[in-house]
Amino acid sequence: MTTTPILLLGGLGKTGRHVADRLRDHGVPVRLASRSSEQRFDWYDDNTWAAATGLDTAYLAPPYDPAGLERAGQFIKQAAAGGLRRVVLLSGRGVGGPGREFEVYYGQLALEQAVQDSGVDWTIVRPSWFMQNFSEDLLLHDQIVAGELRWSTGDGAEPWIDTEDVAEVMINALLDPRHTGQIYSLSGPRPLTLTEVVAELAAATGRPVRYTALEPEDHVAELIRLGASREEAEALRDLLAVIRLHRSEYVSDGVQQVLGRAPRDFTDWARRTARAGVWSA
Ligand SMILES: NC(=O)c1ccc[n+]([C@@H]2O[C@H](COP(=O)([O-])OP(=O)(O)OC[C@H]3O[C@@H](n4cnc5c(N)ncnc54)[C@H](OP(=O)(O)O)[C@@H]3O)[C@@H](O)[C@H]2O)c1
Repeated sequence: MTTTPILLLGGLGKTGRHVADRLRDHGVPVRLASRSSEQRFDWYDDNTWAAATGLDTAYLAPPYDPAGLERAGQFIKQAAAGGLRRVVLLSGRGVGGPGREFEVYYGQLALEQAVQDSGVDWTIVRPSWFMQNFSEDLLLHDQIVAGELRWSTGDGAEPWIDTEDVAEVMINALLDPRHTGQIYSLSGPRPLTLTEVVAELAAATGRPVRYTALEPEDHVAELIRLGASREEAEALRDLLAVIRLHRSEYVSDGVQQVLGRAPRDFTDWARRTARAGVWSA
């Protein structure tokens, strides 16, 4: 078992925090690196990068906007020159899916390529959209508590995945070199539209929740009004378009492949999360 810390870039995020907990459970030390961790690290501030180099292995959860993805590619190059030997990258399922020609994936694809070209051992994990967006994304969480989810996925469906499953796959990839050079596509067990999602959430919480399908440009305007940058809002619009255009309505077997079991189901996750009081008003 390694005594050198594993670097967790984005280790406080929806997947990263489970990765950190599970590594600690395995007795593996971790070094968190993000804007709010003790080891301050910012993709947009090169002066913070040196402190995150010098370790052997990294989990990398990049930003999702094009500029941030490019910065992450530059960081990998620098870290590989500084001695990094292994990276497990959190990418996105769409990069290898039927909508992969969408421009919105160019940044993620370029980062995957940068990781593959960097000379380090790599594993790439491409999950579908997370169930935890509905519990941990502050805007969606608050909309659910208020009873109206406002998104621009139309009547498209997505096989939402539990980030605990993503984290378990990540742990296997970080600790077992047999996953080197593999790309895993992961999803939950069944695609659900937002209408079906809100019905699940209403059943789990015992309170009404409805879905309002926004037009993509109205969604961008609303997100900007609520404080997002135009770049972030447009990146989200473009990612959601893949769902809206029914290009994500398929399941992927990465969880079964790596963990030897089926992925967790939305209904169980929603009930468990509601019982924990996450959507209590
Ligand atoms: N959400 C989904 O459904 C989903 C699905 C598939 C793939 N992904 C991919 O997963 C990645 C992370 O998404 P997420 O939803 O899990 O995000 P998240 O939960 O919001 O986590 C983001 C993490 O990155 C850190 N971070 C944010 N901005 C940073 C910056 N400027 N410099 C350094 N660290 C920064 C955050 O910590 P601090 O705030 O402390 O900096 C946090 O630890 C993205 O690349 C996304 O495309 C997401």
